[in-house]
Amino acid sequence: MSHNKDIERYNQNKINYDRTILGKNGGIIKSYKNTPYVIAPTKESVFYHRINKIFDISNYKQPAIPPFLGIEEINDINKINTRVLRLLIKKNNSYKLRLPKELEILFPLINKIMETEFNINPKFYDYACHLTFDNGEINKNGYQRYPGFHVDGFQNHDSLLEIHENEHSYVWADNQATLFSLQPYFIEHLNFEVDDLHAELNRQTKLDNIYQGVNNGIYLFDPYMVHATPFFKDISQKRNFIRITFEEIQLKDPVNSINKMFPKKLQTYIKRIDLRTRLNSIPKDNENSLKTNLEKIGLKKVY
Ligand SMILES: [Fe+2]
Repeated sequence: MSHNKDIERYNQNKINYDRTILGKNGGIIKSYKNTPYVIAPTKESVFYHRINKIFDISNYKQPAIPPFLGIEEINDINKINTRVLRLLIKKNNSYKLRLPKELEILFPLINKIMETEFNINPKFYDYACHLTFDNGEINKNGYQRYPGFHVDGFQNHDSLLEIHENEHSYVWADNQATLFSLQPYFIEHLNFEVDDLHAELNRQTKLDNIYQGVNNGIYLFDPYMVHATPFFKDISQKRNFIRITFEEIQLKDPVNSINKMFPKKLQTYIKRIDLRTRLNSIPKDNENSLKTNLEKIGLKKVY
């Protein structure tokens, strides 16, 4: 872990967060303005057509295979001794990546993703980009990240925030790649102000529809890609996980890590209320069936 001076303590909804501070000594700055045109693999994928589109819940009825953007092995990844949560690495209205020195080892992967993104997202310049990097030893019969099938970037039609363009993320893991589910989901009956969407996704997920990517593979997910972190059945192992998210509206969560290569005002956020605490509680039997489902697929490899 980083030295204490690189951590800022933050309290939100009575939970303490450590905000990692990076980039005090600079890092890599690269502009993607003149990125050459590269044909993205699986260019015909429906995922590319959903980029820059306004969020639409009817897409949950149309499952699609996430584009696979190849393997990228990262030598020396275990030398990185910090973790970051939604670290800003490109601001809105810019072509420039700003990657702190502490994460330079990730540059080849991030560079590849930036070049791909430039080619598939006509609004590359407009969008902001955040990096999450999680590493650590996963305990036997445990999970690295929050367990359960879920989506990233769901937009609540009833919320005060205007419905905006879909966000999308590139995910990568060097051990036990992220699980994803290929089946239609029916969620129109939910009231998203009070019902727990993720509990419903877990209730509908069928074991036969779950797939797992390959180690060191890069996959493109959008808010319609239902996925889960794997279960480490009977073993304790190291896992490095990376998510790089592009979004029209920068996610302003006060627990985000801080990148000193950007001005402080870009990373000063107001407190958020965690809506999850207000949702209908998940019935106990549903919670158990979710756990059992994930445990059943423990280390099974599916492609
Ligand atoms: Fe996720």
